[in-house]
Amino acid sequence: MNILILGSGGREHAFAYKIAQSSRCTNLFVAPGNAGTDQIATNVALSVNDFETIKNCVLENRIEMVVVGPEDPLVNGIADYFATSEELENVMLIGPSKRGAELEGSKERAKEFMMQHKIPTADYASFTKETLDDGKRFLETLDAPYVLKADGLAAGKGVLILKNLDEAKQELENMLSHSKFGAASTKVVIEEFLDGIELSVFVLTDGKNYKVLPTAKDYKRIGEGDAGLNTGGMGAISPVPFADEVLMQKIEQRIVKPTVNGLKEENIDYKGFVFIGLINVNNEPFVIEYNVRMGDPETEVVLPRIKTDLVDLFEATYHQKLNEVTLELDERSATTVMLVSGGYPEPYEKGKEIHGIETIESSIVFHAGTKLIDGKVVTNGGRVIAVTSLDEDFRKALKKSYQNIEKLSFDRMYYRTDIGFDL
Ligand code: AMP
Ligand code: GLY
Repeated sequence: MNILILGSGGREHAFAYKIAQSSRCTNLFVAPGNAGTDQIATNVALSVNDFETIKNCVLENRIEMVVVGPEDPLVNGIADYFATSEELENVMLIGPSKRGAELEGSKERAKEFMMQHKIPTADYASFTKETLDDGKRFLETLDAPYVLKADGLAAGKGVLILKNLDEAKQELENMLSHSKFGAASTKVVIEEFLDGIELSVFVLTDGKNYKVLPTAKDYKRIGEGDAGLNTGGMGAISPVPFADEVLMQKIEQRIVKPTVNGLKEENIDYKGFVFIGLINVNNEPFVIEYNVRMGDPETEVVLPRIKTDLVDLFEATYHQKLNEVTLELDERSATTVMLVSGGYPEPYEKGKEIHGIETIESSIVFHAGTKLIDGKVVTNGGRVIAVTSLDEDFRKALKKSYQNIEKLSFDRMYYRTDIGFDL
């Protein structure tokens, strides 16, 4: 069948890499894609939020399956657009409906869902401009540090963690009264701080059945030792070594099952990924966020460990037959290290030629922010390339990634040399 992947990052290159290996895929398209997807698929220049152009692309190329990478089109209702279009209603779109995507699109909605379905999470209250003073008083009842979350999508930047009460009050005011995150901070969720170690669990669900995919741990800060500004993610490891059977049982029973059952009870169409961000507090898992898509760079370590044909998995998801497929995993560990543009996550330059990609053999090079110009691969984003390796444990896999990174270069290339330092 012909398949279209929407998006342009390392996540989408990883999807394309797996799907291109499937005997079920005839022609693969990625929109808009990057220089990496260009080598294994046909890139189509379109915006992932331009549903009409996507529709034309699907019809013209007789596409039967669409895999949605990023959250934006999902929150904007691309699944509903397909389901309600006569010409598209039989296209297998992998991604939740708009109501499902609210779990990521609104932090308040996610908290209400968790409360409703008794899913462990931090205590919280939410506030608007009108209730700013209540919000400040609420902060006074909490202990430091203070967690403030813009309700809406803020490109991963909407969460502030503040050590000092006055600062927290000021930031609350900046968010509510001075639109610090634009419309996204019209509402703010204030949350109890959870002290523990983070991990992510990925679930593929058809709205009825589910498969728990490999776990992963992401390294979000720009600097070594997890210091400095937040980024989209500087590296990842799968599986998470401390996610043992006992912890995974708790996560599945207390979090994954009630989440899928909650979607079902609320009659929410959900055929896609649930990315559950967790904090493990003394071996008790709490949800800190839902995302309604795969993570990036987590996908670059999760997908290489899935042996089951991805197209079969997605087809079963679409037809609500996930219970009929077995998920086969590669037991090895996977690691990925992100190479980023100097300056990122603050302003940086693009268009730097990337050298050495063709010399890499024992790692997988997933392109993130890259572009082909006159036959040359150049940088086209903050996060540029993810170097993924597999080996019997994460330390060996990391060693491979770091050895191969030595062969790659571009002007002002930067990466963290301490991925996995805390494990
Ligand atoms: P989020 O966008 O919800 O993932 O939040 C961004 C980051 O803030 C997370 O990766 C955590 O490191 C941190 N965080 C979010 N909520 C909490 C919480 N309740 N307690 C401690 N840290 C949190
Ligand atoms: N790496 C975090 C995310 O994709 O949201």
